[in-house]
Amino acid sequence: MKLWGRILWSLLSGPRGRRGVSQGWAFNLQKSHSCLAGLLSATEMVSHWTQVFEERGIPEARESCEYIVAHVLGAKTFQSLRPVLRTKLLTPQQRESIQELCSHRLQRMPVQYILGEWDFQGLSLKMVPPVFIPRPETEELVEWILEEVAQRAPAVGPQGGPLILEVGCGSGAIALSLLSQLPKSQVIAVDKAEAAVSLTRENAQRLQLQDRIQIIPLDVTSEGHWTHLLPWAPVDLVVSNPPYVFHKDMEQLAPEICSYEDLVALDGGEEGMDIITHILTLAPQLLKASGSIFLEVDPRHPELVSSWLQSRPDLYLSLVAVRKDFCGRPRFLHVQKSAS
Ligand SMILES: C[S@@+](CC[C@H](N)C(=O)[O-])C[C@H]1O[C@@H](n2cnc3c(N)ncnc32)[C@H](O)[C@@H]1O
Repeated sequence: MKLWGRILWSLLSGPRGRRGVSQGWAFNLQKSHSCLAGLLSATEMVSHWTQVFEERGIPEARESCEYIVAHVLGAKTFQSLRPVLRTKLLTPQQRESIQELCSHRLQRMPVQYILGEWDFQGLSLKMVPPVFIPRPETEELVEWILEEVAQRAPAVGPQGGPLILEVGCGSGAIALSLLSQLPKSQVIAVDKAEAAVSLTRENAQRLQLQDRIQIIPLDVTSEGHWTHLLPWAPVDLVVSNPPYVFHKDMEQLAPEICSYEDLVALDGGEEGMDIITHILTLAPQLLKASGSIFLEVDPRHPELVSSWLQSRPDLYLSLVAVRKDFCGRPRFLHVQKSAS
């Protein structure tokens, strides 16, 4: 697993001893400023800020400052910095930039927002709060979809590749990685948050993938809104990493999540099923016969989704496979529409 995967705050880890957003960081910053007068190399900066972060209870203390220092020096990771750059004296501007970015981390801002970009499936995506930060397990969902697409008979979308609908595109992570790895595919990406729609647009432009994606502001829970998607039907695949956190679990999320990410991206209602059931209800009307739905969910959802589908035979959908994430938890669902 990639190193940076470790720095994402899980949605599933349960209580984390909520410390809240750090208070009094300005005092600490001043103190650390004077300590820094004699700290001049990248390595020394990392040691200094690791200690400050640890003292202030900032999670992933070392990783956080390594990313920040590497970013200021123009690298992705500290490990990829040439040894000479790690020991070379930092310029006053570099020290100031590091200081400023670390002050955001002291306020529990996620590193991804501090750096303003993050990698997903080898693509560098712009990150802007409060748009949801893509999580490493979602890369596994993308990999599963790519495997399934490769195993099928060649799909025949308008360009000879699969036509994919993504519900809740966020930064565009899933849609853009599928587009980049399936060169003949096309994607319709929808999200109800304007910030997510604009960020997916911007990321599509950055990656020069804008010609094969339609990005539409749309709330899948609004009555009749989904009919705006009918002109693109039938699609081969529906994909979503929807808001699926059980409402009662929302208060246990880490401060990095609660204070900076859009809670609408996370809260799935009482049993985390609110958006999932909307997607499953509208998907059969947009999918081809035998078309597939791939979902990222909470480990409690495979059972809940399976019994919900049994209560809705009118949808002609069945749960055909469940896949585990890298922690061994059942997190990904493949639901298929019947052949006729
Ligand atoms: C968990 S985030 C996933 C973002 C992105 N696909 C990813 O994996 O990084 C869920 C996304 O669904 C969007 N969303 C929430 N409710 C929605 C709704 N009713 N209709 C459309 N999109 C919705 C949120 O704005 C958010 O961007």
